[in-house]
Amino acid sequence: MSSRSPLIIDCDTGIDDSLALLYACASPEAEIIAVTCVSGNIEARQVAENTRAVLELAGREDVEVALGREVPLVRPLEVTPETHGPRGLGYAVLPPPRRPLSARHASDLFVAEARRRPGEITLVTLGPLTNLALAVLREPELPRLLRRLVIMGGSYRSPGNTAPTTEWNIHCDPEAAKVVFTAWETAGATAHAGTAGTAGEPGAAGAPATAAGGLGLARPLALGLDVTEQAKFTPEHLARLARRAGTGPDGTAPANPVVRFLADALHFYMEFHGRYDGFYGAFIHDPLALAAALDPGLVRTEALTVDIELTGTLTAGETVTDWRRVWGRLPNVDVAVEADAATFVERFIERVGGLAADRSNVAS
Ligand code: BDR
Ligand code: CA
Repeated sequence: MSSRSPLIIDCDTGIDDSLALLYACASPEAEIIAVTCVSGNIEARQVAENTRAVLELAGREDVEVALGREVPLVRPLEVTPETHGPRGLGYAVLPPPRRPLSARHASDLFVAEARRRPGEITLVTLGPLTNLALAVLREPELPRLLRRLVIMGGSYRSPGNTAPTTEWNIHCDPEAAKVVFTAWETAGATAHAGTAGTAGEPGAAGAPATAAGGLGLARPLALGLDVTEQAKFTPEHLARLARRAGTGPDGTAPANPVVRFLADALHFYMEFHGRYDGFYGAFIHDPLALAAALDPGLVRTEALTVDIELTGTLTAGETVTDWRRVWGRLPNVDVAVEADAATFVERFIERVGGLAADRSNVAS
């Protein structure tokens, strides 16, 4: 087994997804096996263009990029160009990617890689759960084959960002989220039945927080808006990152393609947050989730039972969370309830600024 952490990243790139990809590329402990694409912020084919272009910006043309399902399981496709720009990367324009798309479908890739390296891979989802739902329907053992699942999605004790109680990634494909949360609950109940303790006992742990190596079962780690909205990136942070890279805050003096990209993408995202969230800066949801996948110490969690509302006329897509354990069901998710956002933001500046410094001589 490699000493690095093998990752598959499923994303809907997206401005903050692109920052998460750069963070992964800048993290020495990450072994990026593949990046897979799903519709969400923008259509999946544009996501695949953006994803490959961002990986190439980071010098990672070697990473396999696979397309997944292009529409949600049941509902019509929704995208959000007002949040991420008409092509998903704000005002940034990157050269067209050179690397072709993988011939594999994202869901097939999850299953094949998890079977090839059982108990080793962390899957990080940064968009709707469509691809993962298809994979787990095909291979119900997937929860046990993965080392861990880390989800950016949901709003557990905080308001939503799409409807009053729903978060975008779950809102876009609640049926897929239901499949995923149920699959891990079912796997947890099966694992629990084979261990000491009373099945269904309120508050019973049911599954360890992390698989102890081999084929254990780890509850997914879910980072919702409760914690990701603590990760605020400001123009001052960008200026510091640019200094770390040895360039000006817009990446032009001297030329730095990574800082230039960040400035152009974040300018759009910060304008959006200025209009809707009352501050000129940006929540960087997806990079926090990626960072927590590599270092779970960045968040404090509670083991909770979470289910997905599908039929509420006002609440479809809500992550309904049994805080008082009234259902008596085993916890199926480790919900992040607190994050060390300051440490994370410093790490982001240091790592992505360092990556930018390494890429300073590359023509944009
Ligand atoms: C999530 O929705 C998307 O717009 C972001 O990329 C992030 O994954 C936050 O709700
Ligand atoms: Ca995303």
